[in-house]
Amino acid sequence: MADLKIRIWRGDATGGAMEDFSVPARENQTILDVVTQIQREQAPDLAYRFACRVGMCGSCAMEVNGRARWTCRTHVKRVAAPGEVVEIRPLANLPVIRDLATDMAPFFDKWAKAQGSFQPKDAPDGSVPAEFSVVPPNSKQRMEADAGIECIGCGVCYASCDIVAWNKDYLGPAAMNRAWTLVNDVRDGGNKARLDAVSGDAGCHSCHSTQSCTERCPKNLDPSSAIAGLKRKLFWDSLLGRR
Ligand code: SF4
Ligand code: SF4
Ligand code: FES
Repeated sequence: MADLKIRIWRGDATGGAMEDFSVPARENQTILDVVTQIQREQAPDLAYRFACRVGMCGSCAMEVNGRARWTCRTHVKRVAAPGEVVEIRPLANLPVIRDLATDMAPFFDKWAKAQGSFQPKDAPDGSVPAEFSVVPPNSKQRMEADAGIECIGCGVCYASCDIVAWNKDYLGPAAMNRAWTLVNDVRDGGNKARLDAVSGDAGCHSCHSTQSCTERCPKNLDPSSAIAGLKRKLFWDSLLGRR
């Protein structure tokens, strides 16, 4: 098989440029395999991030030929025609640390701003609840919560969202997908603060429903519908005087 032509962005927060590499093409190699081979054999100072290599940790996302992807599960032959140059850049909408490694802090700070941590309803003081909540598996709320729970925090949706690019305060699809999951968790007691957080200028009403987040989520989650759910909830709560 002919060698693959790979172009990788090298640089840091002050700027950078593309650098060309060539690696042997192999059957079933992933983008992460290619980056790792380049780092091991040609550019030992190349910075990038990965951990699990099996689509669980969410740490390996990069821009591949202009589109954010989880690189450990993205096969080269799926994203590039034979002979086509594969261009790899750091995730968009996040500060670059170096080369392909971005600073995920703004992404996770927004989860915190969207009140994305579980607040036990029965034990506001942290004590053990007297009884566990019963959550029927086929209840509407349980199904809504289950639909968004498998987020791996990869940032692909965040890097694909135009509103994040325009408005640095916008909470983004993953944080609001998490908020909607918790809004539907009947064991959680933090919804007042959570709904306040997602109802502001940085919240769900700024989403234009373009659905890039849903189209690109590697876990096949649907943050766009989760955001629509938050909009519906805020509308009805407001109409019925519940807020
Ligand atoms: S649907 Fe909303 S959150 Fe998702 S990419 Fe579009 S604007 Fe961003
Ligand atoms: S919603 Fe999907 S794309 Fe966004 S961080 Fe979670 S797993 Fe990644
Ligand atoms: S390395 Fe863990 S999801 Fe890719």
